[in-house]
Amino acid sequence: MTSALVVHDLHLAVRNGQVLLPILRGINLNLPQGEIHGLVGESGAGKTMLGRVILDILPPSAVITSGNVDYPAHRSSPSLNRKSAHRRRPHISLIPQDPLTSLNPVKRIGKQMGEILRLAHKDSSQQIHERAKQHLREVKIRNPGQVLQQYPHQLSGGMRQRVLIAMAFSTEPSIIIADEPTTALDVSVQQRVLRLIRDLQKERGTTILFVTHDLGVVAKLCDRVSLMHSGMILEQGKVSDVFQSPSHPYTRSLLEAIPRYDKPREKLSPVANDLQTQLIREADEYDRQRRV
Ligand SMILES: Nc1ncnc2c1ncn2[C@@H]1O[C@H](COP(=O)(O)OP(=O)(O)OP(=O)(O)O)[C@@H](O)[C@H]1O
Ligand SMILES: [Mg+2]
Repeated sequence: MTSALVVHDLHLAVRNGQVLLPILRGINLNLPQGEIHGLVGESGAGKTMLGRVILDILPPSAVITSGNVDYPAHRSSPSLNRKSAHRRRPHISLIPQDPLTSLNPVKRIGKQMGEILRLAHKDSSQQIHERAKQHLREVKIRNPGQVLQQYPHQLSGGMRQRVLIAMAFSTEPSIIIADEPTTALDVSVQQRVLRLIRDLQKERGTTILFVTHDLGVVAKLCDRVSLMHSGMILEQGKVSDVFQSPSHPYTRSLLEAIPRYDKPREKLSPVANDLQTQLIREADEYDRQRRV
């Protein structure tokens, strides 16, 4: 099957004065069309930076020092208008982590959705309004006309995240980067939002890179998973294989740290400090060898 997204030996650093600080160290990913790929790793591992490379929305201080990102199924997509991420990578959308700060607080939902829909369609205002309503219905918002008239602060967290999901799918992207889309929601809303993302993905065959800290979410949602630490992918494979027989000590350690309802009395073991130290040392050693 054609790959939707290929990341090849990607190295990225952030410029700090004269110094380049390594952030991503030799990332390789190959996502077939229609795969949901979990990207797991602790805070600072580089998950968002990797998403930003794929979306081509890097901060000015970031430098790709080697490697590349390719979209084999979309080689011919227009990508020259550098005004907005949508126009640069029209076939990729983002579902961001924080639904409140990701929406513009001073614009009604209808206006914000309209701005995105106009990038893809040359419709009249009435047609855009109808399209926006339809996209809100698809994310199970029952009163789309009313929601389009509202400001973000008038909606619940779950509703705001549904709006962002509707926006992400509204441009009919072939790839979606979902950057911890449920972390800011409470557990019962999380379940509904995850189900919604999965249903929309199945219907459309979208490829999703799903960034999360939560291995439980990966088990429910993803086909394959990559585990990241210090800008490196330590383990990658089918979710069932990685969960049943993890090959890296860090993966084993993360799996042991998940509370089990079927073994409530077992003591939880956090990721050991010496393992963390060893992984950071390995990352330093990797940098030293690359410089030689
Ligand atoms: N705009 C930026 N400028 C400079 N350095 C940055 C910038 N954004 C992130 N970094 C650095 O890049 C590294 C990776 O950050 P990133 O945000 O990708 O982590 P993450 O895995 O997404 O973490 P989290 O789970 O907390 O979201 C960190 O060391 C961070 O300090
Ligand atoms: Mg992040």
